Amino acid sequence: MSSTTDFDRVARPDRWWRSAVVYQIYPRSFQDSDGDGVGDLPGITSRLDYLAELGVDVIWLSPVYRSPQVDNGYDISDYTEIDPLFGTLADLDELIAAAHTRGIKLVMDLVVNHTSDQHAWFTESRDPSSAKRDWYFWRPARPGSEPGAPGAEPDDSQAAFAPSAWTYDPRSGQYYLGVFSPGQPDLNWENPGVRQAVYAMMRWWVERGVDGFRMDVINLISKPAELTSGRTIEPGQGSLRRVANGPRLDEFLAEMNREVGLDAQNLITVGEMPGATIEVAQRVTDPARRELNMVFTFEHVNLDQVGWNKWDLADLPLPRLKANLAQWQEGLAETGWNSLYYDNHDQPRAVSRFGDDSPEHRVNSAKTLATVLHLHKGTPYIYQGEEFGMTNAPLTQIGHYLDVEALNYHALAAAAGVSEEQILRSLARKGRDHARTPVQWDDTPYAGFTTGVPWMAVNPNYREINAEASRRDPGSVFGHFQQLIRLRHAEEVVREGRFELLLPEHEQLWVFTRTLGDRALLVIANCSSTPAELPPGLPALDGAVLVLGTHPDGATGRLAPWESRLLRLGER
Ligand code: NOJ
Repeated sequence: MSSTTDFDRVARPDRWWRSAVVYQIYPRSFQDSDGDGVGDLPGITSRLDYLAELGVDVIWLSPVYRSPQVDNGYDISDYTEIDPLFGTLADLDELIAAAHTRGIKLVMDLVVNHTSDQHAWFTESRDPSSAKRDWYFWRPARPGSEPGAPGAEPDDSQAAFAPSAWTYDPRSGQYYLGVFSPGQPDLNWENPGVRQAVYAMMRWWVERGVDGFRMDVINLISKPAELTSGRTIEPGQGSLRRVANGPRLDEFLAEMNREVGLDAQNLITVGEMPGATIEVAQRVTDPARRELNMVFTFEHVNLDQVGWNKWDLADLPLPRLKANLAQWQEGLAETGWNSLYYDNHDQPRAVSRFGDDSPEHRVNSAKTLATVLHLHKGTPYIYQGEEFGMTNAPLTQIGHYLDVEALNYHALAAAAGVSEEQILRSLARKGRDHARTPVQWDDTPYAGFTTGVPWMAVNPNYREINAEASRRDPGSVFGHFQQLIRLRHAEEVVREGRFELLLPEHEQLWVFTRTLGDRALLVIANCSSTPAELPPGLPALDGAVLVLGTHPDGATGRLAPWESRLLRLGER
């Protein structure tokens, strides 16, 4: 466990997370230390100096708990044990202490909408007479159907990673709910015993020295009345949408905050919330309500799809993306707080998705995208590899994909008659595997990730694109991220300044100001692969100073492809 001295170095003053930059680690792909091809905790500890050099304040660790790994650890079978794949509790203690020594805090992933079907709570719950039966959602077959027969599920809800959200259990002749997959049964938060068990587990981790929680799909924990009353609900609705933002969400979050002492100990809390609107986020992040510090919205990462189906691809004109981020800035300007992200372990790589990952434009588009995001108001999240411009991988056949979501989509779409070509096109654009290729540390075999054979193929572009090369080059994406982090730490206007979007309809330029008292910053970013003229109507630029740019001469009336300028405007 971390010693008191370590803890002092990472004191948590009031609202400290408003000036923090968080770095997400997906442990299985970060750094392997024992040659088994899977990243692990000692591997992370060995890379802490790199993270300190980057300058981040917090590490968010994707799940390392004991797990059958149906969904790479988002299916937990023991909340207070480490999976042997990743190491031991002693390794985690060492990581926390070593991070704290460097002034870096550590956030655990909290996956409590569901457990694994191998969790002891669920094993017990399978027995209809057990006290834990009500800890999960058990339902009979739909009226008039033979339990277990095709089509007899309580309703037609699909799971995110399986054809049905209901799995038949012959022992009791009933079905249990798993909105992600059969290996991830949903916990019944209506049951106070479930809630208290979760809070006790969270307290245990806080005592161990962690600094907060990233809460997996936390807005799904309060199931709608149709489910809790056991009535069969209308078929045909997307299962996640059906269970998002339920009636007792705020009550449960406030209870959790109180019972665990989240605010009382100034822990950082971020709730992942698919389907959360600005209105939900305003409520949940209003400090007076004492629920969460911030949420991960999905709105901006769902703009390049049609409706709730991420595989149904849509074009994304820049004005739509700008407008969405601006609406969230506006919506949470007064009371709440935003999280800022493009990348995580569930999203394709930002530089390939929103930028241009060709050799000509990769570096500048990665920098420009970073400038835009980090100059918004909120807490920025960097996903491993984003800080040196890692790209999507050349995943061209179904055999290249390992993710449960991708494989389920492939099977279902193929059965529904969608052509292989179209399926592969959707997967290549949106698949989660892109984010999960091993981190490219250097140009040695397997990119320095492992001395064994990596669990997932390394992106072949690692010889050109790797952390070591980026670190050594002062004009690199890594150097740019370092400067953005330093700026946030140094400048109150970056942290707290008012946001205003300019030129909302411009198809190439993303332009906005941040102002606080007499301080003002202007961001002008060409988010396209062709040059752009500066249009009239911008704030007066005389006396403006280039604080951070992609190109040395930041004063011309024309921006090169993916050129961006962060300017300090004269005193106002
Ligand atoms: C969201 C996580 O980020 C994702 O990776 C996971 O598959 C689902 N929640 C289910 O836990």
